[in-house]
Amino acid sequence: MTSFLQNSNFFEGNNPENIAKDFGTPVYVYNEKILRDRMSKVAKVITKYPYTANYSVKANTNIHILKLALEEGLNCDAMSVGEITLLLKAGFPVERIFFVPNNVSSDELQFALEKGVMTSLDSLSQLELFGKTCDSMNIQPENRKCAVRINPGVGAGHHEKVVTGGKKTKFGIAEYDIPQIFLIAAKYNIRIAGINQHIGSLFMDPQPYLDAVKNLLRIAHDFKDLDFIDFGGGYGIPYHKLDDEKDFPMEDFKARLEPILDEFVKSYGKAPLFKSEPGRFCVAEASVILGRVHATKENSGIQFAGTDVGMNVLVRPSMYDSHHDIEILRNGNVVPRESDKLIEQTVTGNICESGDILAKNRPLPKINEGDLICVLDTGAYGWSMCSTYNSRPRPAEVLICADGSVKQIRRKETIEDLLNLFD
Ligand code: LLP
Repeated sequence: MTSFLQNSNFFEGNNPENIAKDFGTPVYVYNEKILRDRMSKVAKVITKYPYTANYSVKANTNIHILKLALEEGLNCDAMSVGEITLLLKAGFPVERIFFVPNNVSSDELQFALEKGVMTSLDSLSQLELFGKTCDSMNIQPENRKCAVRINPGVGAGHHEKVVTGGKKTKFGIAEYDIPQIFLIAAKYNIRIAGINQHIGSLFMDPQPYLDAVKNLLRIAHDFKDLDFIDFGGGYGIPYHKLDDEKDFPMEDFKARLEPILDEFVKSYGKAPLFKSEPGRFCVAEASVILGRVHATKENSGIQFAGTDVGMNVLVRPSMYDSHHDIEILRNGNVVPRESDKLIEQTVTGNICESGDILAKNRPLPKINEGDLICVLDTGAYGWSMCSTYNSRPRPAEVLICADGSVKQIRRKETIEDLLNLFD
């Protein structure tokens, strides 16, 4: 693909220079049609049995995007009291929120219990704490329900830091501890209503996920009468789309998943509610960051383009060595990627760290001072992982609505906002 921006008509006829002028750079720009398309795809991963797709909101918690997820019929999983609060504010009823935390306090568990949000506990000690919290709140027996997160013993993902299943990770309860789950549950009169897992993030080959599904369904037989089984998220998106990387094979995945579920339903004697927890797939491709090139230079043979998209704005490249495709815009138009005119350039941000690099030695059209750079696939773990490092306020977010209008969905932070945190 030569240009994703042109192929997808990403700006829906709006001039990106005007967006940059109106909202400043850097700015996150979202496309509503792409958001709705991806959300509607995950909503249909399982059609034969009761199923909900829980959008994993840690990928992007902008309240306007949460509202789109609500409209598209998704449920959500939350990792913190903050995420639950945002979901409630966006209009999600408590039954459509699943709290999947890690190492939380009794106060946080109490918050979920008070609201009536189903919670998954991911260690024996957290299950015990949940039981004690129920006791201290005098929770009635019929409301003493929770899920437990199983560590399937295997993981998958694009980087060691995002593999969440397997022997070395901090997540989930090991299979050999399952008998202990029943002891603790009996002690506090808790019903284990569901089990869940998440093996890791960003895989393009469905096989490890399908293997993990089979494994969790085998384990499910140890739990009698489950209301739900949640297989986790992790479906990938093509970060190398300009090099023609293919999409996650959703249709093939669905076709291979169904017979696994058929077999389980037969042997378990009923179809519980199946769930998945996709984050990235729902939002990643629906956003780009527009940034301005403020400097160019050559240092010892390396061509640098210095932009305002620092690691405070997008941390994935410096944190995981993640690749994000970049397109160059000049006077509002995409500069064509003619292969004989590409020059290796290193695109950096404006943060005081030598690791503040967006793209290293990347063949790109020659970048000039004053150009806009457009960083693709930034909707997931983009703004949600932003920081104010170097005391730089976090950027605005704007949505290109389905009718082509441009709406600000989060204002840019100001220096005042940063100062206001001090007593
Ligand atoms: N469920 C649980 C329990 C999770 O921990 C996660 C992600 C998800 C679902 C959603 O996974 P997804 O479908 O988005 O792959 N910051 C990293 C990714 C960290 C993912 C953490 N957990 C990145 O930028 O690649």
